[in-house]
Parts: sequence; C-alpha cells; structure tokens
Amino acid sequence: GEEGRSRHGISHPASQGEDDNVSAGSGMEMDDRLSHLEQRVQLQEDEIQLLKAALADALRRLGCCEEITQASSKKGGPTKGQCFIMALCSCSFVLFFDVFLSWPLHCASLILLHLMLLSLCVRKSMSTERLSTLKKEMADSRSRTTSSSSSTYDGYVRMFLRGRPITMHIPDQLRESYSLDHKVALPERKLKLQWVYGYRGRDCRSNLYLLPTGEIVYFNASVVVLYNVEEQQQRHYLGHNDDVKCLAIHPDMVTIATGQVAGTSKDGKALQPHVRVWDSVSLNTLHVIGAGVFDRAVTCVAFSKSNGGAHLCAVDDANDHILSVWDWQKEKQLAEVKCSNDSVLGAVFHPMEANLIVTCGKSHINFWTMEGSTLTKRQGLFEKHEKPKYVLCIAFAGNGDAITGDSSGNIYIWAKGGNRISQVVSGAHEGGIFSLCVLKDGTLVSGGGKDRRVLLWDHDYRKKSEIEVPEAFGPVRTLAEGKQDELFVGTTRNAVLRGSFSGSLTPIVQGHTDELWGLDVHPSTEQFVTCGQDKQVYLWDTSSHLPLWSKAIEDPGRSVGFHPSGTVLAVGTMTGRWLVLDTDTRDLVSMHTDGNEIISAVKYSPDGAYLAVASHDNFVYIYSVTENGRKYSRVGKCTGHSSFVTHLDWSTDSQFIVTNSGDYEILFSQMSCINGCADAVRNLEWATSTCVLGFNVFGIWPEGADGTDINALCRSHDNNLLASADDFGKVHLFSNPCSQPRAPSHINGGHSSHVTNVAFLHDDSHLISTGGKDTSILQWVIG
Ligand SMILES: *[C@@H]1O[C@H](CO)[C@@H](O)[C@H](O)[C@H]1NC(C)=O
Ligand SMILES: *[C@@H]1O[C@H](CO)[C@@H](O)[C@H](O)[C@H]1NC(C)=O
Ligand SMILES: *[C@@H]1O[C@H](CO)[C@@H](O)[C@H](O)[C@H]1NC(C)=O
Repeated sequence: GEEGRSRHGISHPASQGEDDNVSAGSGMEMDDRLSHLEQRVQLQEDEIQLLKAALADALRRLGCCEEITQASSKKGGPTKGQCFIMALCSCSFVLFFDVFLSWPLHCASLILLHLMLLSLCVRKSMSTERLSTLKKEMADSRSRTTSSSSSTYDGYVRMFLRGRPITMHIPDQLRESYSLDHKVALPERKLKLQWVYGYRGRDCRSNLYLLPTGEIVYFNASVVVLYNVEEQQQRHYLGHNDDVKCLAIHPDMVTIATGQVAGTSKDGKALQPHVRVWDSVSLNTLHVIGAGVFDRAVTCVAFSKSNGGAHLCAVDDANDHILSVWDWQKEKQLAEVKCSNDSVLGAVFHPMEANLIVTCGKSHINFWTMEGSTLTKRQGLFEKHEKPKYVLCIAFAGNGDAITGDSSGNIYIWAKGGNRISQVVSGAHEGGIFSLCVLKDGTLVSGGGKDRRVLLWDHDYRKKSEIEVPEAFGPVRTLAEGKQDELFVGTTRNAVLRGSFSGSLTPIVQGHTDELWGLDVHPSTEQFVTCGQDKQVYLWDTSSHLPLWSKAIEDPGRSVGFHPSGTVLAVGTMTGRWLVLDTDTRDLVSMHTDGNEIISAVKYSPDGAYLAVASHDNFVYIYSVTENGRKYSRVGKCTGHSSFVTHLDWSTDSQFIVTNSGDYEILFSQMSCINGCADAVRNLEWATSTCVLGFNVFGIWPEGADGTDINALCRSHDNNLLASADDFGKVHLFSNPCSQPRAPSHINGGHSSHVTNVAFLHDDSHLISTGGKDTSILQWVIG
C-alpha cells in the first residue's frame, strides 16, 4: 500500500506526502524518515521471501505437471512450457508470451498455475522495483544536503482511472529530465475539415439542393456540406453542435436554414435544438432561431416564397409536433399550433400564397392558413380515394396545385386553394413515393422507395421516362434538379447519385450505413480502408473521395489493418472471424477464427512477419505471416489481460507488442523468449501509438475521465502529433509526446456521436476520423 492520494487523478510518488521533496519540511525528520523507509524495505523483503517460496513451489508443481503432461502425450512433442516460465521469471516488468502452441488436453491445472504464477511474478517484479527505488531513495536522501531542484523519481508515473492505478514507466533516457510539472505545448499545427464522406439519407427528407454556386448542399452528422462536384471541392458550415436534421433554401437561393436535434454536451449540459439561418456564400451565421422554444428536434423547416421569403416554418419532433412560424430576420415567433399527434414528415409554404402552409405525415395532409397569430387547419379529404398510411412528400405544380406522393405509390393532385383531390395517378410506383420534384420546365419527377425508380411525368402526369437507382444504393430519398437535364438523387442508403434520364446514375457520395470502428491508412498511398457494422469494407481514395472498391463480408467488421507492403489488408469482425483481402482485387486471401468475440485490433508487425489479432476474449493471437501476407500460421497466444483487449501496438523491431485492456491494463509481450526483455520494455520504441494508456500519451486524458471516454489514438508519422477520438464527438490534436497530465489540445467538432477511430495518412498530410452512430468519415487537413 504505497499509493499516496491521487492528485487530480494523477499522482507521482515524488510529488506526494512524505515521499515528496525531502527538504520540503514535510514535518518528518530525516532520521524518522529513514527508519520509516527501512521498515518498509524490510516489509518488502519479507513479502518477497514469501513470494519466492510460493513461486518455487508453483514452479516445482508446474514442472511436475509438465512431466505428467509429456508422459501422457508423447506424440505432442516437447511443450514450450519451460521457455514460457523462463520468460516469465526473467522479466522484472509485466511480460508474458504464451507459447503453448497446442494445449494438451489436461491442461486445466496448468492454466491455473499459469495464472497464479503470472500474478506472483508481476507482484514480485513490482516489489523488487519498489524495493530498489526505495533503497535508491534512501541513499539519495542520505547524500542530499540542501534543497535539490530535481525530485527523486521512482521511474514511473501513476495515473488513476475510475480509482484504478495505472503505472507507467519512464524510459531511462528521460528519467533524469522528466518532470510532471513541465507543460506540454499546444501543437502549432491545426486540423481543418476538408472532406465529409457521407450524406444523411436514412431518416431525413428534402435535404439535397443545387445552389447557384454550382455546389450541392446537404448534411452529415453536424456538418452542412457544400460540394462542388466538378471542382471536387467541399466547403462546410460548422455552426451546429449536434445532428442536423433538416435543410431549406430561401427563394434568394443564397440564404439557408438548417435545423438540429437536442443533444448533450461533454459536461452534461443540454444542447438546445434550434434553427440556424446562414449565408451560403460567406458561411456566416445570420440568425439563430428557437433555442429554448423547440423541445426535441427540428425535423422540418421551410421558407415562405411569395412574400420574399420573410417567414420560416418549422416542425418540432416532440409529441405534439408543434408547427411554428417565424419572422426569421427578427428572430420572432409569429404563430404556433399542435400539428398532429402522428409523425409529421413534411411542411412547406405554398409558392403563391404566403399564408398557406401544407403539412403531411402519417395518415394526413393538412392545409394551414395563418391569420395574425392563429393557424387554422383544414384537413385534406381523401373521400373515395385510398387513404394512405403515410403521405410522404409534397410538391407544387406551376399552376399552384399541390402534388403528394404516398406510401401506397399513388400521386394525388390537390387543386389550388382546396383540400380535395382533383386528379389521381394511382400505382405510380410499386411501394412508396419518397420524393417529388417539379422541374423548371414544369414536368414532375418522382422517386420510389421499394422500386428504386425515378420517373419523369409530363404536364398531364403521363409517364415519359424512367431510370433506376442501382440496388446497392437503396431506395430514393430525395430528388434535386441539377443544371440542364442533370438530376441529383439522395438515397436511403446514404448515397448521392448524379445522372439524367438520358444516361445512368453514378454515385458522387457514398458511405457506410451503420456504426463504424475499423480504420487504417495505406502504408504508402493516399488510400485508407474502413469497415463497420454494416458488413462492408471500403477502400477509399482521398483524392477522388470515392471508394476504389467496397466488399460485402459475412460478419460485421470491427478492425482493419494493412500489411506493411500494402498488398493485403486484414479485417477483424465482431464474431472472432478475421480475413485477409487483396488490396488490389479485394479477393479473399485467407480466413481464420480465433475465439468468438469481437476482434478489436488486427495489426501487422512493422517487418510484416507477424500479425497480432486482439480479441475481446482477453487474448492476443499471434500469427506468423509469410509470402508477403498470403500465408498465416498461428505461433502463439498472449495471455494475461483480465479484460478484453482494446488497443495494440508493435515495437519498431517487431519483437514486442504492447496492449491495453478494458480494465485499464498495460501489458507487454515478446515474440520470442530468447532475447529476454527484462527492463527493456520501458525503453522500447513503438512503431505506432494507438494504445491510449502509456507513459508517452497519458496526457491525453482529461480531468475526471472515466477511462472509456477516449476511443482511439494515433501518432503522426513524423512523431510530432497525437490525435485522439473522444466519446463526445470531438477529435483532439495534441503535441507528441504527451507525458504531462491534462495536456492542451485543439478540439474539433463535426461528428455528432462518439468518434471511434483516427488515423494519419502515410505522409501526415491528412487525418481521417470515423464516427460511431453518425457513421460518417471526416477528412482533415493538417495545416
Ligand atoms: C522543495 O520544497 C520547497 C519548499 O516547499 C520548494 O520551494 C521547492 O521547489 C521544492 N522542490 C522540489 C523539487 O519540489
Ligand atoms: C453520415 O454519412 C454516412 C455515410 O453516408 C451515413 O451512413 C450516416 O447515416 C450519416 N450520418 C449522419 C448522422 O448524418
Ligand atoms: C392527441 O392525443 C391526445 C391524447 O392522446 C388526444 O386527447 C387528442 O385529441 C389528440 N389530438 C389529435 C389532433 O388527434
């Protein structure tokens, strides 16, 4: 029990209690202190004697057990038990590498002993270490006279997460110069969002438009994207702090309104739902509307048309679905009304009558007239016509008729000024009609859900033409008119396609459709790979911003790693299965299964000779890799974690791995027992820095962190920067190393849920980050 109190969660033996600055006048006389230390040393020695005895006993029993094992399984050849024990005992730090290639049948007792030994060995090494530092301390304090400037460091720093001590050893090289009180500088370089790979089509409507600037506008996570497809340029409006759910363009075609959901900030503060009105040329925010008024999420927003766009209406997705009308320039609410108990999917102003608003949704279409501050409802009457489960979308014909598309695939025309159906196009689509768009020439385009078809109708609602969205991109979500005969199609599988009725549709935005954790960068090109819950693996090209390929796999993906040659990549799944794909052809090269739990990391050694497969079953499986990543054979299994393995890095010499676990452990394992590792681990250089616990990185942890709030970490290849992915939607940029408590960082928003992974491109030109629930991929320039 040598732990002192924790100082802001992080403590150092040299900065606490009586272990502090010897001449600091802590109240304890030198002699008292010495005898106190001697007592403690004696205690330690006793404990070690005890441990040694226990260890010897355990060894004897293990040896015995091994004899039995060998005797009973001669065909199994020599076990590697001895090697394992040697490694265990020669290490003064926590090191174990289990080389039982094939567990003999009756190994249960061996495993038990193994675990016992492990804990003994760990305790022994810690005691020894403590003992030697105590002795050193004593010697130091004896020789010390007046106040010395350098503290006596035990050679480690201890941090606490959820009350658990995490001991991190200081490399020898830094022991002398290290101080907890040095300040880590904020990095000079910063991140700027450069590309958003994604579109929210799954659950949002009417959210894609072409602007006069030639950019299409849509949103993903909390970012509103302005994308010039010709020039391959994106600009971003970053005023929102959580998911954007709706978008409207002012009749001036420059001003834009976007509405967002209610969220929670990192410190538990409520982020209020609101609408932001902003200028799409300058990206300046003009007005913020409804903060404190909206309750849950703004899901529909629209500008009035005939009165110069002075008004804005919005629907709050709370129980009553409140429809409100605003003078947005004065940020003043003009009227509000309970719209419907049922879900409301659309709300738009009539293009010719400034005081008429049409809303639609579950089994309804309502025509609202605003007089003063009252909104009066007229329900749309279906009369003899089939009443749809949902009215999904509304558009207006040139003559002022309202046109609706519904879940039964019917198009109804509601003559201007009335609430009755004047014309019907029944069975326009097989399944629901998700979007309607009246083109400049007055023709109508409709987009189907189930049938994925895009149909063109003439002025008399006769079908003129059709195209189909390829199955992979899913049903039509929304339609937008482009230049000339061009058309943009947003889909419910979160893609945006471009095309025309005279040609085909090609994707310009694509992405995952479910939670996403796997990310790795190609070792030498501008490519990166992602995999996620949606069972898709994507190889991305950062210059074309499109996938070079995608591949469907059988299980949800969780982790991914390139072979150092770049020719193959390994994919870890949620089921214990992992596979290797050819980077060029995406062909399956190899497939294996280790355990049946989540594979949290797959990482090749820098020399490409090993693959480490880290699992939620607490083990790391080691494979030897030959034929340039084409052949795999298991050579060992690293044990010792008491919880699932979360992160893993290789040493630059490909001989060691360091791992973190769900229990905040840091373990080191060695590939072979021959070299012996002993004290060396603290001095090792690591090829990557993805482990979130370690001496070089512990400064990334914020005050009051609970240990799960940083999901991923990576170091730039030039060793100057560290980027972390937190649970609050933020990407942080730190200086590397980051060995002082609570280091400062540049904090970048954009994601709207936990950030699951980060990676620097091979040349450090960009950083890629992936989102969990928001399923988005953001690409940042490092400037
Ligand atoms: C030792 O204590 C004195 C008095 O509190 C203080 O001025 C000095 O900075 C301390 N030195 C170290 C190394 O902590
Ligand atoms: C962001 O884009 C991805 C990829 O298109 C999509 O799957 C996801 O649903 C979007 N997320 C949000 C929150 O907009
Ligand atoms: C909405 O629900 C409440 C209670 O469930 C009910 O009293 C009210 O009449 C409903 N309103 C409409 C417009 O259906």
